Amino acid sequence: MYRTCFFIMIYFPIIHAFTCGQSSIKPNDLSSTKIINGTEARPHSWPWIVSLQHPLLGHFCGGSVIDANYVISAAHCFFNIFFYDSIVFIGNHYLTDRVEYRTISAVIIHPFYTLVDGSPDDIVLLKLNQSIDIKSYPPICLPTNDSAILELPGQRLTIAGWGLTNESESSNVLLQTTLSIFDSSIPECHPFMNDTNKQLCVGVIGGGTGSCSVSITKAK
Ligand SMILES: *[C@@H]1O[C@H](CO)[C@@H](O)[C@H](O)[C@H]1NC(C)=O
Ligand SMILES: *[C@@H]1O[C@H](CO)[C@@H](O)[C@H](O)[C@H]1NC(C)=O
Ligand SMILES: *[C@@H]1O[C@H](CO)[C@@H](O)[C@H](O)[C@H]1NC(C)=O
Ligand SMILES: *[C@@H]1O[C@H](CO)[C@@H](O)[C@H](O)[C@H]1NC(C)=O
Ligand SMILES: *[C@@H]1O[C@H](CO)[C@@H](O)[C@H](O)[C@H]1NC(C)=O
Repeated sequence: MYRTCFFIMIYFPIIHAFTCGQSSIKPNDLSSTKIINGTEARPHSWPWIVSLQHPLLGHFCGGSVIDANYVISAAHCFFNIFFYDSIVFIGNHYLTDRVEYRTISAVIIHPFYTLVDGSPDDIVLLKLNQSIDIKSYPPICLPTNDSAILELPGQRLTIAGWGLTNESESSNVLLQTTLSIFDSSIPECHPFMNDTNKQLCVGVIGGGTGSCSVSITKAK
């Protein structure tokens, strides 16, 4: 079935003032038809993806580096959690990797976010206690006003993360999978769509893939 994951990061191959969305390690085939359950990502091919981990709860959400000092994630990840103890792990392939990590010095939740399933504005900025080297961890690209990504039913997107592989457990390796954007007016999308300017309906008709997205890339 669908999970309500509206934390959606978009890679758009356009010119930015700084390099974003460029990995020195090429990801595995994005046009893969294997869309159920996900497949292991090529290690470090999504360098902006971070794992947010709590000392007691372990991995609880993913995020993406947007510049040297900030990570973007989902607001719902920070509603019920004592975030001051959480650690941002950067450069992980396995959840248990300890490559580069930071604490969180500020949590900025979108002011319009409400803790209703499917709420739009489910977005949070996390300020890192110390900057990271964006040459090693290039940031994800953010959409611009004219990206028009929200109007592309039929487009395929690649998501990556350590999402739940079943009801209870996260994958220990970074997974990726390719999904389709649906026309948000179809009934399956309806329960979750409140603002088509802010939300995308993606998934697999009939369900199957339940990964909560931490990163979405336009599939070639
Ligand atoms: C996906 O995972 C489920 C549960 O582990 C399994 O039953 C199913 O066969 C998998 N589907 C594919 C296409 O691998
Ligand atoms: C930031 O947090 C990391 C991880 O706890 C720590 O190793 C580092 O010393 C901290 N940096 C600063 C400037 O406090
Ligand atoms: C959608 O918007 C309506 C009206 O603003 C609000 O009552 C409802 O809770 C919202 N639903 C979600 C899932 O955010
Ligand atoms: C993008 O659109 C918003 C809302 O219309 C506007 O406030 C903002 O200035 C625009 N940003 C750019 C860079 O054009
Ligand atoms: C859930 O997934 C984990 C990791 O993929 C696996 O080890 C575990 O056996 C699964 N549990 C169930 C109930 O399927």
